[in-house]
Amino acid sequence: MVCVPYLLLLLLPPLLRVSADTTEPCELDDDDFRCVCNFTDPKPDWSSAVQCMVAVEVEISGGGRSLEQFLKGADTNPKQYADTIKALRVRRLKLGAAQVPAQLLVAVLRALGYSRLKELTLEDLEVTGPMPPKPLEATGPAFTTLSLRNVSWATGGAWLGELQQWLKPGLRVLNIAQAHSLAFPCAGLSTFEALTTLDLSDNPSLGDTGLMAALCPNKFPALQCLALRNAGMDKLSGVCAALAAARVQPQSLDLSHNSLRVTAPGATRCVWPSALRSLNLSFAGLEQVPKGLPPKLSVLDLSCNKLSREPRRDELPEVNDLTLDGNPFLDPGALQRQNDPMISGVVPACARSALTMGVSGALALLQGARGFA
Ligand SMILES: *[C@@H]1O[C@H](CO)[C@@H](O)[C@H](O)[C@H]1NC(C)=O
Ligand SMILES: *[C@@H]1O[C@H](CO)[C@@H](O)[C@H](O)[C@H]1NC(C)=O
Ligand SMILES: *[C@@H]1O[C@H](CO)[C@@H](O)[C@H](O)[C@H]1NC(C)=O
Repeated sequence: MVCVPYLLLLLLPPLLRVSADTTEPCELDDDDFRCVCNFTDPKPDWSSAVQCMVAVEVEISGGGRSLEQFLKGADTNPKQYADTIKALRVRRLKLGAAQVPAQLLVAVLRALGYSRLKELTLEDLEVTGPMPPKPLEATGPAFTTLSLRNVSWATGGAWLGELQQWLKPGLRVLNIAQAHSLAFPCAGLSTFEALTTLDLSDNPSLGDTGLMAALCPNKFPALQCLALRNAGMDKLSGVCAALAAARVQPQSLDLSHNSLRVTAPGATRCVWPSALRSLNLSFAGLEQVPKGLPPKLSVLDLSCNKLSREPRRDELPEVNDLTLDGNPFLDPGALQRQNDPMISGVVPACARSALTMGVSGALALLQGARGFA
């Protein structure tokens, strides 16, 4: 794939002539830190990628093309290049805009197994064909962070389990946005022993039933942060039920940018994870504080909603750090700005400033600063 030449071209003798007069698809910054390649040209000069050898951050865009042509190199055993790959400085790699045979993707993952890459991002990729069968030993890379955005797989929902087989365990952060399928067959998934952050934001058609299918029970035992921004959640009770079914114990749950409905009276009550300390309900279109919130929280963000009066203490859970800015009762212009993105683009509509109850100012400041971090 784009990255095979990147990885393999590095192995060519450094006499590769780089012509100075044509614009090159790859650009390395002055600090030898970041290298960006964009192979949009119909006949791209792949060898330009050689200069990325020294970079720590590498970003490669395949210009939307199919990378089938690199399949013939995919059988090469990367072991013979192990030392060279190990010497690469790359820690963050982003691959995007291409059609990639699964076999090639696996070849790249095997090669990366010798690298010291920490973060891999795949974006706008169409992975074609079946994934090769499970390797005998885990040869793949030991990433800490894997991010996928708009990646489609020929194998439907089974993709995560299949991909997981090619990675060493130890993944700590998994981000999956604009997924084509999050309905994972749980039997095919191994436990993510070390995963502390799961971000399924920007999957507007997920919904709470989709969440139930994505969160395979007992597969995320170390989960601390779950982000479901803009993920089609509409009922708190549905989210709560999905968390309970999956037996996850997140400390922090981000439900911002979902249109949350106020739970209908008589809806079944759910017990929230006992570890839950921080809940983000900002930009949720709430006209009143929803019922059925966890009884005790450290942080509750209700900013940028449609609350027309200050919530009474008995409507709120016990909370240290409560954010209410950007609600009409505090800021009459807020509603208009929420409804008109043109205006909110100009005015910092919902700038965060912690409005705290029952904590010292210093603690509030600290928590506010953490919110920005
Ligand atoms: C690559 O170049 C094309 C055409 O110049 C441009 O449309 C595209 O946004 C670029 N992609 C990246 C990732 O920079
Ligand atoms: C998603 O990726 C495909 C390529 O696989 C691309 O054609 C499409 O434009 C991307 N969609 C978005 C919303 O970026
Ligand atoms: C809640 O989410 C909003 C929007 O996603 C973000 O701007 C804000 O910082 C979050 N609040 C906290 C307490 O993390």
